[in-house]
Amino acid sequence: MSADAAAGISAAPPSSHREVHLTTRPTSALSEDHFTVLEVPVPAPGPGQLLVRNRYMAIVAVMRTLMSGADLPMPAYELKQPLWGPVIGEVIAAPDVSGGGIGVGDLVEHYASWREYAVVDADSAKLLDLQALPDPVAHLSQALTAWAGVTCAGEVRQGDTVFVSGAAGGVGSMAGQIARLHGAGRVIGSTSSQRKADYLIGELGYDAAVIRGAGPIEDQLRELAPDGLDVVFDNVGGEQLQAALAVANRKARFAIVGALSGQLDGDGTKAFVEIDTLQLLARSIELRGITLLDHIAKVPEWTRQIGRAMAEGKLTFPHVRFTGLERAPGALVELIEGQHIGAVIVEL
Ligand SMILES: NC(=O)c1ccc[n+]([C@@H]2O[C@H](COP(=O)([O-])OP(=O)(O)OC[C@H]3O[C@@H](n4cnc5c(N)ncnc54)[C@H](OP(=O)(O)O)[C@@H]3O)[C@@H](O)[C@H]2O)c1
Repeated sequence: MSADAAAGISAAPPSSHREVHLTTRPTSALSEDHFTVLEVPVPAPGPGQLLVRNRYMAIVAVMRTLMSGADLPMPAYELKQPLWGPVIGEVIAAPDVSGGGIGVGDLVEHYASWREYAVVDADSAKLLDLQALPDPVAHLSQALTAWAGVTCAGEVRQGDTVFVSGAAGGVGSMAGQIARLHGAGRVIGSTSSQRKADYLIGELGYDAAVIRGAGPIEDQLRELAPDGLDVVFDNVGGEQLQAALAVANRKARFAIVGALSGQLDGDGTKAFVEIDTLQLLARSIELRGITLLDHIAKVPEWTRQIGRAMAEGKLTFPHVRFTGLERAPGALVELIEGQHIGAVIVEL
């Protein structure tokens, strides 16, 4: 073993690296002009810290919301500071880390993304279980959020008719498949184009799709779900939530997972919708807000089940990959514009 390896250091890191900052808060459409890519010194890890070379970062819709200071269970982005989000990296120095089982060469998941190198507290980094999922990048899928929505809030049962709004996005592309794994009989998604609708039906096992912008969602849903909806996995809110309520059966369960209709435009901090509460009580409909953070203890078991389904070919992880940190701002802009299907990953 070399002296460096014995000291918990792999190949020496460069003296500088790149990170992405938010320069101004968007008040309308997000563009690459809201970001800047800076060259800065690579930080040095202190006691109990790891130096990680980031490899794969996830680009997700909530990043737009975090730019505006919305009231969420995680801190908003600060101006002129590196942004953050889920990322997988390789530990290249762990000079004074004892216990915890993380060492040089390990792959860890943490939240100091939007930069090429990161110093993270060892006790906040998650050692990747490389046996759990077929591809390390699948740890960046939003399958866990989808699993939480389907099982804990939607409580999907055998034969249910399920509507997933925002079905072609990072969460939605997993939610329809996971609803099917839990016995859903008919799965309907919403998206913005025929191309994406065809993908939902052809590749992700949806039975049918409504298309945003192709006429009232309620009319489309009534036609595609003549026997009504038992479960709604709602990523969107707005008109789609109203339409789903109108078509919902007695005792329908609504998993309120996202609010894309209000998150991606304007200041992105509110998602108001007018609801006829008489409909809720008359049909005993339950609206259940849910966040993955409330179910963290179940993550290891859910990850095993997701890995098993992936290994058996019952669950796929649709995603697109970009290469290079400089592509990250554009990737987020394109995600919001609806250009992609599934998750968006940037390889660093
Ligand atoms: N509760 C939790 O614990 C939790 C965890 C993670 C994420 N979330 C939430 O889950 C939701 C989905 O997240 P994601 O990362 O998977 O996002 P996403 O669905 O990948 O977001 C991008 C997609 O949003 C759709 N979109 C864009 N503008 C829209 C509009 N005005 N109305 C409706 N849809 C629009 C587009 O899809 P189409 O082109 O197909 O319409 C676009 O491709 C978000 O609200 C996110 O904040 C919640």
